[in-house]
This record gives sequence, structure tokens and C-alpha cells, in this order.
Amino acid sequence: MISNVISDGVNGTPSIPGDKSISHRSIIIPSISNGVCEIENILKSEDVFHTLNAFKLMGVRIEEQKQKLVIYGNGLDSLKKPDKEIYLGNSGTSARLLTGLLSSQKFDSVISGDQSLSKRPMKRISDPLKKMNAQIQTADGKLPLKIKSGNLGPYNFDLKIPSAQIKSGLILASLNIKGETKITEYRNTRDHTEKMLEAFDADIEINKVDNKKLIKIMGKKELKPKNISVPNDLSSSAFFIVCALINKNSNLTLKNINNNPTRNGILQALKKMGANIKISNERYVNKEIVCDIHVSSSKLYGCELGSEFADLMIDEYPILAVAACFADSPSIFRGLKELRVKESDRLELIVLNLKNCGVNCNSKNDDLFIYPSKKYEIKKDLIQTDFDHRIAMAFAIMGTKIGSLNILDSESINTSFPNFKNELNKLGGQIS
Ligand code: S3P
Repeated sequence: MISNVISDGVNGTPSIPGDKSISHRSIIIPSISNGVCEIENILKSEDVFHTLNAFKLMGVRIEEQKQKLVIYGNGLDSLKKPDKEIYLGNSGTSARLLTGLLSSQKFDSVISGDQSLSKRPMKRISDPLKKMNAQIQTADGKLPLKIKSGNLGPYNFDLKIPSAQIKSGLILASLNIKGETKITEYRNTRDHTEKMLEAFDADIEINKVDNKKLIKIMGKKELKPKNISVPNDLSSSAFFIVCALINKNSNLTLKNINNNPTRNGILQALKKMGANIKISNERYVNKEIVCDIHVSSSKLYGCELGSEFADLMIDEYPILAVAACFADSPSIFRGLKELRVKESDRLELIVLNLKNCGVNCNSKNDDLFIYPSKKYEIKKDLIQTDFDHRIAMAFAIMGTKIGSLNILDSESINTSFPNFKNELNKLGGQIS
């Protein structure tokens, strides 16, 4: 994919797809609920397709209609043994969440993934599950995982790694375990699982004590079916928001966007940098906050963000780094250790590719430093993505400002935003 300079800004109302995190959960939770759920606006992308396929393999009846999915849940203990291994492609969220759910089922299963997912750490979810007596065999801490049915018991967890995937995997395991599981979270990660389970009437209690969050789940309570309308994805919106900010004569309106406070660090960070972003029409849908976002070309300043921001916008650092290149002073983003274990080592690829774009930047002890200049001279126009969709989209936006960039392996964008190129071109983008 080649991204070229935009001459006259981006303008209009892009069609942003459904939220990826909420879409996964909108298949998993209805599939184990006790009745029929209709899901609107689910993200149609490869990652979500893998979760959908997993539940079909486990015998759940799912009808894919034009405008919605209809999922016929049959209760907490209704999943069937899949007749082959569950292949999850590139989807880390499916892998961590399903490892939790599968470890408390009455059948054995195997989960696997593509080359990139098979390099990502899985002990972070299998080790805590083993404390509940789960029987999981990893391939040296990685996929494929062999999960045996077992007799699990509740446990009192202290979440050391700030990860919504780990937290959600443990919560999903606990739903089918007799007794009370407790999870203490020290840093705030996205809470879509907790919110959706509350909406499905699970026995889940959440309390804030000092800066900690205490989650209690009493297992074996059947989930009431609910219809879900998936809000649009703020993470996917971020590429368009930054595109509008850094290109003059731009004006975009993004509609029906999820603005969950555990996810919206990117909006807070960009506003801190002077971005002209206005939020309107805030409302609740299935306990999630949804809003419209108006954004226009802005003069940006550099900023320093502490590691607390990383939990609230972990997926947005590639595109935030692009925004920082067009600010009029340096930026420092601290505490980005978790970026190293995403679909790629994102910290390394941000620095490598920005340097190739002529940007003065570096990383030290998992902190990222960006020293912007008025003009960039591209040193190498090939962007290495290691099949990471967010690196690919972030550097496509970089290309709209500095000139022709050749984004390698850009088909990875299909994991989260298959229509990215067309949407950007519709607004004034020049991607071929
Ligand atoms: C996700 C959690 C985050 C995020 C990922 C989606 C989720 O991962 O990076 O894209 O849906 O729970 P971690 O839990 O590894 O931080």
C-alpha cells in the first residue's frame, strides 16, 4: 500500500467500524448466556471472525443476517467440544479471553494462531489460570495451548500486569466455577467485560478502594440474554482524528464513537497537545458511553505523558507518535513496556520507521522521545510493519503529510479495519 501527500485536507464524516474489543465480547458473552441475543454493528474483520468461528465450532447457533448477528445462547455449561483445534489467526484478544473461558469447560480443547500470534506471550494468562487449578500446556509459554477439562476453584488474584485481556480471561473462567473469584486491579485497564457482564445480570461486584479496583465474581450464575448495539471504535477513529489534526483545511465528524473513560487516553493526550477536538451528543448504550467527535486542523504542542496514560490508550501510541512529529516542541511518552508484546514490538517499529521518515527520535528504558522538525526528508520509504495493523495505519497517516510511503504487508489492516483505505480516500486521502 502506498500512501501519498494530501493536498487539501480531509473533510466529511468517515464511516468508522464497530469497536473491536466490544465486538469480541459481544460474541463470547451472548454465546454462554441463557437465550437469544441480537447484536448490531459488530465489527466485520478477521480478528472478530476468528472469535465467531470458535463459538460456531463449539456448537453455538449463530445467524449472520445483513444488519445483525443473532446468537442463540444455551447457558454457562452449554458449549460443546470442538471437533478440531480452534485457530485464532492474529487475534491476541481471542486467544487470552478464550483460554480463560475454555479452561473451565467440561471438555479438552486446543487453540492455535498465525505466525505472529504464535510468538506472543501466553504464560501471562495460563499461569494465573493454573492457580485456579486449570490444566493448560503451552509450547514454551506460547501457542498452541492444550487445555484440559478440570476441576477449577476460585482464587484471589492480584493483577500484576496491566492487561484487560488477562483480567477478562480470568473473569470469563470464573463464570463457570463454583464460588467467589476476586481480582484486584492496580492499574486501570479497559472494562468492557465487566460492563457487559453487569448488563447481562452476572453476579459481579466492582468496588474502588483507594486507587485499586476490586472485582468479585460469584460463579455459576446464568447470564440473562441482552441485545447489544456495538459502538464505533475509538482506536480506529484515532487514525482519522490525527490525519485531520496534522493536515490543514481538515474538518471531520465521527459519529457514535465509544468514549469509555478506560479507553479514551488518546483524546485526553491530543487535547493536552492543543488539538481542536469537540465531543457532543454523549449518551449511554449498554452501559458504554458513546459520543460524536468533531476535529479540525490544529496547531499542536509537544507533551510529556506518564505511564498511567499507557493503560488508557495502549493501542494508540503509534498514531500519537505520528501526531507528535508535527508538534512544535518535543514529546516524551513514558512507561511503554507493554507496547513490546503487541502484534509487533511496537516501540521498536515506531522508532525504526520514524527514523526512516527522517524524524529525530529514540527510546530509552521503554520511554519514547520525539524531537519534531519543520520538514522531514524521507531516508527510506519502505515501512516495516511486521504484519501489525496499527503500525500500518499510523504510517499511512504519516504519508499523508510527508510524501509517498510504501507500507509493507498492509493486508494486516483487515484484522481491525478492512475499509480503512477506501474511507480515507473518500475524505481526501491518497492511498493506492
Ligand atoms: C484488548 C486489550 C489490550 C489491547 C488489545 C485489546 C482487549 O491488550 O492492546 O488491542 O480487548 O481486551 P492487553 O490486555 O494485552 O493490554
